[in-house]
Amino acid sequence: MSTKEEIVERIEALRKQLHHHNRMYYIEDNPEISDAEYDAMMRELIEMEKAYPELITPDSPSQRVGAPRERGVEAFTTVKHAVPMLSLDNTYSKEEVLAFDTRVKKALPDQNDIEYVVEPKVDGVAVSLRYESSIFVQGSTRGNGLMGDNITANLKTIRTIPLRLEGDTIPLLEVRGEVFMPRKAFEKLNEERVASSQEPFANPRNATAGSLKLLDPRISARRKLDIVVHTPGQMEGVSFNTHFEFLEEIGKRGLKANRGYKLCIGIEEAMRCCESWEENHADGVVPYDIDGMVIKVNRLELHDLLGATSKSPRWAVAFKFKARQASTVLKDIVVQVGRTGVLTPVAIFEPVRLGGTVISRATLHNADEIKRKDIRIGDTVLIEKGGEVIPKVVKAVLTKRSGAEKVFTMPQRCPVCSAHLVKVEGEVAIRCENIACPAQLRNRLKHFASRGAMDIEGLGHTLIEQLVDKALVKDVADIYNLDVDAVANLERMGDKSTKNVIEAIEKSKKMDFSRLLFGIGIPYVGSKAADILAEHFPTMRDLSRAAAEQLEAIPEIGPRTAESIVRFFREGENATVIEKLRAVGVNMASQASAQVLSPTATRKSEIRNAQSAIRGRTFVLTGALQSLTRHQAEEEIKTRGGKVSSSVSRKTDYVVVGESPGSKYDKAMKLNVRILSEQDFANMLR
Ligand code: IVH
Repeated sequence: MSTKEEIVERIEALRKQLHHHNRMYYIEDNPEISDAEYDAMMRELIEMEKAYPELITPDSPSQRVGAPRERGVEAFTTVKHAVPMLSLDNTYSKEEVLAFDTRVKKALPDQNDIEYVVEPKVDGVAVSLRYESSIFVQGSTRGNGLMGDNITANLKTIRTIPLRLEGDTIPLLEVRGEVFMPRKAFEKLNEERVASSQEPFANPRNATAGSLKLLDPRISARRKLDIVVHTPGQMEGVSFNTHFEFLEEIGKRGLKANRGYKLCIGIEEAMRCCESWEENHADGVVPYDIDGMVIKVNRLELHDLLGATSKSPRWAVAFKFKARQASTVLKDIVVQVGRTGVLTPVAIFEPVRLGGTVISRATLHNADEIKRKDIRIGDTVLIEKGGEVIPKVVKAVLTKRSGAEKVFTMPQRCPVCSAHLVKVEGEVAIRCENIACPAQLRNRLKHFASRGAMDIEGLGHTLIEQLVDKALVKDVADIYNLDVDAVANLERMGDKSTKNVIEAIEKSKKMDFSRLLFGIGIPYVGSKAADILAEHFPTMRDLSRAAAEQLEAIPEIGPRTAESIVRFFREGENATVIEKLRAVGVNMASQASAQVLSPTATRKSEIRNAQSAIRGRTFVLTGALQSLTRHQAEEEIKTRGGKVSSSVSRKTDYVVVGESPGSKYDKAMKLNVRILSEQDFANMLR
């Protein structure tokens, strides 16, 4: 038996080694040991920390992947940035860059050739990292520049973010950077998504943003995100004379600076550097997407002299690369059915080389877009690849039209399962709502089995893929009739894991009715709506017979959701699957059905609380909200008895601040009026 001292020593040695190998693998790209050896060390550390939880430290390598949030905790907390996170002014030509240099020199008359640092502009998601006493304590999104979401848990899963800075302890260091998904990881993720009938992400930036907002850090950990650090934020106990010095120093501290940053004397040299990157970046100079270059004044004391506007600093400018275009012949338009049943028309064209890669397909988004652009099969079309990976069809070249081109029409029935298609009013998407549609089956099964729904442990990606491929399951109800031997014969399924998963499936029959409602995937019915519906309709039969008006009478259920529910139960295939679920004994009634014909006491008081926080209060809205239009936000306030005013005064109770807020925000700060982020506001509405 080891003494406590020996245990502490071993834990420290393991951490040191893991830390070293992490750096060699992820930052130096020069691994010294095999993955298996690394995993063995990590397992040993986790076991020891499990036995001695008092020895766990926040910077231990074991702390990268935290636990998922509990069901119901859907949002991130809001963080106020100590120093605002600004954006950049864009330039698109040499003239504009020279004009920037002229402005800089005018503000700094005694400077001749200005020293600039030129670095790639990474197309990712801006984040801020905060280190206190050299320990990574908080990471946040940019949000509206003043306040962002606290995404610390997900950022901790990124291996290139050190949990502790190397070297002497720094009391406080905040750095800003860009999280991105390397091109290879993006392509792999999309391949997997397409293979499992999930809609692919449009570009690595969207994939990154989506991954950072996942509530389960274990999933974001699998997404292979990376970061480059590009700017200092708040600092105490450390200072730099130049931006170049900052970049060099953070590299020594274990953070990752952008590849290829360069010190240039004078704007001409800076411009040459930008042009050379523009010419060469498509050949994969860096393994991630860059959409331009950033030119920054090197001396930090000049930053203070130049200052900033409310949106961007005057000491830096972005030089954006030109979009690349090519023309080709559109051979066909095929229709894909995505994860949620949405039909997407895809252009198939003669392969063309664009931005270093050969491409032959591009999304056309939806039927309205094809009509608007009047794109016909056989047309010569112009394809463009901007900063984004997925190319788009810009237009048809009308002068090349022969008259033999064919107008495209969307199919009337699902190309995969032949079910009727639905077009929701006010939406461009056309979708297939058959829950047994094979194109959606993998994803529907994953959703059905997920933690928030039927919570079937062991029924994960690999097993689902095999069950669908081997046609052992054709709809979600089939999982309750699985043949044990057939499952045990699948790859990576031993007797024990088969027994466990069959038991988990059996156990799920008793799941709450609201979980089943969420799990069957009625469009627009998320877990919250499912809870509310289960409170009002004690059984599946009651809900399936409800009329749209009855559903709409529930305050939280809007007309779109109500119609979707009615349509769902009307679709014959859906009714069949539900009957199959009933026949195998899946619970289809609320436990306390007697009391749930009206909202429960708690629910009622929750609604009352939300109303009383708003009733009689005056709100002012500033900046763009992400989830609501200005009009919708006003309506939400008014229906709860609140008032909306266009200007801030001492009588204002709350100012709701969205993206790029105006002067109302400054006034609210001056008058000490309570500021609500979009998230605070959403919570209040809820
Ligand atoms: S400096 C205070 N450097 O581009 C100004 N930004 O379009 C901080 N970005 O919000 C920006 N690469 O998120 C800077 N090398 C780089 C960058 C970079 C990407 C992002 C950043 C900024 C956005 C503006």
